[in-house]
Amino acid sequence: MTDALDKTALEAAYARWAPIYDYTFDAVMAPGRRAAVAAAEHCGPRILDVGAGTGLEFPLFAPSSNVTAVDLSEIMLRRARDRVLQKQLRAINGVLVMDALRLAFADGTFDATLAPYVITVVPDPEATLDEMWRVTRPGGELVLVNHIGAEAGLLASFERWLARHAPNLGWRPDFPWARIGGWIERKPGARLLERRALQPLGLFSLVRIGKGEA
Ligand SMILES: C[S@@+](CC[C@H](N)C(=O)[O-])C[C@H]1O[C@@H](n2cnc3c(N)ncnc32)[C@H](O)[C@@H]1O
Repeated sequence: MTDALDKTALEAAYARWAPIYDYTFDAVMAPGRRAAVAAAEHCGPRILDVGAGTGLEFPLFAPSSNVTAVDLSEIMLRRARDRVLQKQLRAINGVLVMDALRLAFADGTFDATLAPYVITVVPDPEATLDEMWRVTRPGGELVLVNHIGAEAGLLASFERWLARHAPNLGWRPDFPWARIGGWIERKPGARLLERRALQPLGLFSLVRIGKGEA
């Protein structure tokens, strides 16, 4: 697959989205955020939120969690930091500008790494999964929520057409399951624990990947 989503296009796209992001993407994607946060917290308190954006998932974490949040976009993160201050969110311990492709954490730092609505966005999804894997402890989980592209029919044709606008949108509408499934097959010790369609309308899916010993 050719990847039109590079770092520059993404930073520009999310600088445009930032002022209206919460109005557009709060309610419709809330069930996925809730499911992802619950799955991550089930693994333990040390959680990395990759691609946290404006931090819409932050209020969903229990105060006893210990969450570090990272994102490429400083403009999105400014809103995330305001949210932490305004709502006094005790779970959020760090909000850092960082590229998911180069996470500045030691191996096995987190009980779970969480990426809500991110893996179809990042320039290199497989390398991002590699980094999330590295910083997750053995026995922990990678938790993703995303729209997985349709495999056939009208919706698949529409998504392929929409994919031409990926650099402006800031995500890939036609992201095939094979990219995640193939990564799991190739990664020693990785196991698909759950793939579940979520409301509304099954548009988004929760994916949990278990990290066994390599
Ligand atoms: C669709 S938003 C999701 C934000 C948030 N998780 C939510 O549920 O609303 C995708 C986010 O991924 C971030 N992102 C894209 N590429 C990234 C990268 N390489 N490293 C870190 N964050 C990245 C974007 O800046 C954007 O804030």
